[in-house]
Parts: sequence; structure tokens; C-alpha cells
Amino acid sequence: MKASGAPFLDACNRRETEYTPVWFMRQAGRYLPSYRRIKGDRQILDVAKDPGLSSEAAVDAVDALGVDAAIMFADIMLPLESIGVHFTIQESVGPIVSDPVRTIDDVHSLGTLDAEADLPYVYDGIDATIQKLDGRVPLIGFSGAPFTLAAYMVEGGPSRDLERTRALMLSDPDLWNALMVKLTGMVVAYLKEQVRHGVAAVQLFDSWVGSLSVADYSQFVFPFTREAFDSVRSVPRIHFCADSSALVEEFHRAGPEVLSIDWRFPVSDAWRRCGEGTAVQGNLDPVAAMVGGAGMEKRVSDILAMARGHRGHIFSLGHGVLRETDPENLRRIVKLVHETTRQRR
Ligand code: CP3
Repeated sequence: MKASGAPFLDACNRRETEYTPVWFMRQAGRYLPSYRRIKGDRQILDVAKDPGLSSEAAVDAVDALGVDAAIMFADIMLPLESIGVHFTIQESVGPIVSDPVRTIDDVHSLGTLDAEADLPYVYDGIDATIQKLDGRVPLIGFSGAPFTLAAYMVEGGPSRDLERTRALMLSDPDLWNALMVKLTGMVVAYLKEQVRHGVAAVQLFDSWVGSLSVADYSQFVFPFTREAFDSVRSVPRIHFCADSSALVEEFHRAGPEVLSIDWRFPVSDAWRRCGEGTAVQGNLDPVAAMVGGAGMEKRVSDILAMARGHRGHIFSLGHGVLRETDPENLRRIVKLVHETTRQRR
């Protein structure tokens, strides 16, 4: 298939690209001095709710790094506010939910997202970001996946192995189902509205679903993830999980064009296990990007060597950029990936 012009979208669609495109999860974040200046002493949610600032943060990261895609500046927790979930995002900890879900009444008391009326600042932020990008690179929209949002709502905050969530699933499948139905409806409405505002691709962050067995994933999560992907078909869809090695075939079955994998297994394994019909995003260890130097460069080259001969590779980290990362290391990665893959085309 011929190229369309934007390497990131071409790679999502497994078209030929001039070079392998690169972007980084959390590319607009505190490791970047210009982000810290934009943020000032505001909370992250105040930045996300101000379309001027959120668009500036998203576009600034593209300019600072030379990456091939922008990601809208928001947080996976944001739409939950509109259905009545109260939370804060605590520095260096993550989201803390004040009244975790315990009973079916807790689920019944949740509202429904009004796609157009709720979250106007997110959609205004998308409009402003697209305008500021002026066609330079495509904008990625995103949502938390139903499972990862449910996990925060059940645990009340970050948790290592999600014991409460897994216990709830097994002990009260009806409650679990009701919660997932509610969240899937919200995710679908949210993503559709983002697409209506012009995002060029969508990424579903199922960051914590790697804590499940394949059997429990298939029974308690898969139908909802698939429904979310089925409902948004007009743009490329990316599935991300932070610990994806055990479940990658299941993620592929859920229907996304792109599998975004962590660093724990070779990129080539994703194609070997799921076939050449998928694009693959990843998968440098964020710690390597933080450490920099020859160790980082060797790992970048190793990943490019493994991806060679496969169509549809998007270079990225296996998870988000770490706060201690020198932006110079990320610029070096972008240059190295572009130069190496341009030469061998
Ligand atoms: O460039 C970008 O990617 C920025 C947009 C973005 C943010 N959060 C802004 C943010 C995106 C795509 C997210 C997704 C997100 N948020 C995920 C999925 C990706 C992943 O990392 O698995 C998750 C799990 C969250 C929930 C969340 N929000 C966490 C775990 C944290 C980190 C807490 C900390 O302080 O380390 C946040 C806060 C957050 N969201 C920050 C940013 C830039 C950092 C805090 C800040 O700037 O004040």
C-alpha cells in the first residue's frame, strides 16, 4: 500500500514509511522543563481543563522532541468526574478515589456521560491542539480502558497486584459486569466525540490489566474491550498494556490495529504470536531512556534490528517517560530511529 504522508498513521495502517515513526507515552510531562513552566504551580487537572494550556503542553512536547505524533493532554481519570467519581491526582502517587466502589448501589449511583455536554474543555483542547499543530503531525486521542478505570475505582488508588479488583470479579460477577457496562458506555461515548473533533488515532490505556490470568481476562474484560474497539472504527486504534506479554494474543483478538507492548519481551515476538497483520508499538525500557548513553543506544538498535522486515513498527517506550529522564536522551532516540531506518529503506 502506498504511503499517505504521515509516517505515524502509515505505520498504524501497515503502509510503507520513509522511516520508522517515534513518539513517547507521557511525552508531555514533568521531565520536560518547558512543561514545568507551562504547568507552574497548577495541578495537572487544572492544566487539562484549560484548552489553551493543554494544547500548549501537547504541542510543546512535539516541538521539543521532534516526534511523529502528538497526544492530547488530559488524564485517563478525567471523564470519570462527569459520571460522579470523586478523585484527586497525587504527585508521585497517582489517582486517589475518595469513595471506592464496594456495592451494586455504588454502581447504580454513577451517572452517564453526555458526550457533547460533558468535558467541553477536552474537546476544545483537541480543537486548539489540532490548530496549533497545523498539520505537522497527527494527534492521538485516548481513553483509559474499562478495566483500568474500574481498577482505580475499586482499589481507591494505585495498587501492586489489584487484589481487591480481582476479588470483586470472582466474588460478585454481577456487580463487576454492571460496573464494566457502565464504564464501557462512557469510554465509547468519549472516544467517539474525540474522533468527531478530529483525532487521527485513539489509544486505549489498559495499563494494569497485565495482573490478570488469560482465563480471567477472556471472561471478565475481553468482551468490553472488544466492544470499545468495535465502536470506533474510522481511525487506527492502539491497545496499550504495561505488562502485556501473557495477554498479547487476547489484545490482538480484541481488534486494534496496533499492539503497544512493554519491554519484557522482544518486539518480534508480537508479530510471531499475532501474525504480520498487526502493527506493533514499542518497546524500549523507560529505564534505558532515563540512563541514556551507549546502553540506551544499543537497546534502540536491538529493537530496530528485531523489527526489520516487519511492516508497521512505531518506536516507543514500553511505558511512560520517567520523571528523571533527560529530554536530550529522547531527542537522541528520535534521531537514531529516524536515521537508522531511513538508511535501510
Ligand atoms: O504526554 C502525555 O502522554 C500526557 C497526557 C497523559 C497524562 N496521563 C498526563 C499526566 C496521558 C496519556 C496520561 C495517561 C494516564 N494517566 C495513564 C495511562 C498511561 C500509563 O502510564 O499507564 C494512567 C495510568 C494515568 C493515571 C495517572 N495520572 C498516574 C499514574 C499519574 C502519575 C502520578 C505521578 O505524579 O507520578 C498521573 C499524573 C499525570 N498525568 C501526570 C501527567 C503529565 C504527571 C503529574 C503532573 O504533571 O502534575
